Amino acid sequence: MLNFYTQKIEKYLEKYNLPNSPENIYRPIDYFLKIGGKRLRPVLTLLATELGGGDVDNAIHAAISIELFHNFSLIHDDIMDDAPKRRGYATVHEKWNSNIAILSGDALLIRAYELISKQKNEHIPDLLKIFNKTAIELCEGQQMDMDFENQNEVTIDDYISMIRLKTSVLLGCALEFGFIISNQTMENRKKIYDFGVNLGIAFQIQDDILDLYGDPEKVGKQVGGDIKANKKTLLYLVSKNIVNSHNHNTLNAINELKDLDKKIEETKKFYDKNGVLEETKKYFDFYHDLSIESLKSLEVIESKDKLFHLVSYLFNRQS
Ligand code: IPE
Ligand code: IPE
Ligand code: MG
Ligand code: MG
Ligand code: MG
Repeated sequence: MLNFYTQKIEKYLEKYNLPNSPENIYRPIDYFLKIGGKRLRPVLTLLATELGGGDVDNAIHAAISIELFHNFSLIHDDIMDDAPKRRGYATVHEKWNSNIAILSGDALLIRAYELISKQKNEHIPDLLKIFNKTAIELCEGQQMDMDFENQNEVTIDDYISMIRLKTSVLLGCALEFGFIISNQTMENRKKIYDFGVNLGIAFQIQDDILDLYGDPEKVGKQVGGDIKANKKTLLYLVSKNIVNSHNHNTLNAINELKDLDKKIEETKKFYDKNGVLEETKKYFDFYHDLSIESLKSLEVIESKDKLFHLVSYLFNRQS
């Protein structure tokens, strides 16, 4: 059902023109765009365009701009998280080096803006307004994520605020792009954006779960990277909330472990023993249901089936 849209994105990216030199900016970009990914965000833009009664081919530049921006954020995120693998392949800073990853990421960001400028003139101001807001919020969320590594008093509310910024708003923006291009009302634009934000919160909670419990072959990232980096994931925050004073010390001792493979192993054992995964999934369910409700409340003439289908595909994902 969604292949039609993904293929449009892949086709565009295959033909996407990059200069040959300097090699060390453009080869990493080409490499990163070709190692795949789910293409979730540009598909959201195309689906929303269609849902709003617009022509998907008129939204292709905007859709790809979101994917380029996402890839920029991942290249930099992998430096910040010291991540060796992404989509089953070496990350850019690992295959080349951090300076190259910074610069090729920057170039991708600029390319994203270049594509927005190719949309119809009448839509560019609105597209830019939400895109700029989203881009800044993503940076803020990423900084909060990094700051939390060294903070002990992070609450679940803090966590939700952080993932809303680092992850969810981009899904909202991708959807709103489609509604701007299909000339939908402000009211509907806000509704589809809110759906994207709730979807994004559930999506990031699932990403946290997959980081530890996913099949490494399918996820394509290192297992337990969040534990190594001392991330305040939802699993971690839930575990802190459900432990009693006795096993509080055990949790603290595990967090102090210097042998990082042992830290991952012991953390997982601790989570399994204390029902942390089950409790974390309840938060996932909450935001999953919220996203379904917000999609249901959206009043449009076209069928919302494809978006519902995407939500169910997404939440049965293993990568
Ligand atoms: C990874 O996003 C970053 C998060 C916000 C969790 P995706 O899981 O969509 O990454 P790709 O593009 O499919 O690789
Ligand atoms: C990433 O969150 C969010 C952004 C890239 C903005 P994560 O750091 O959890 O994403 P992964 O797990 O590396 O894909
Ligand atoms: Mg990361
Ligand atoms: Mg990160
Ligand atoms: Mg992650």
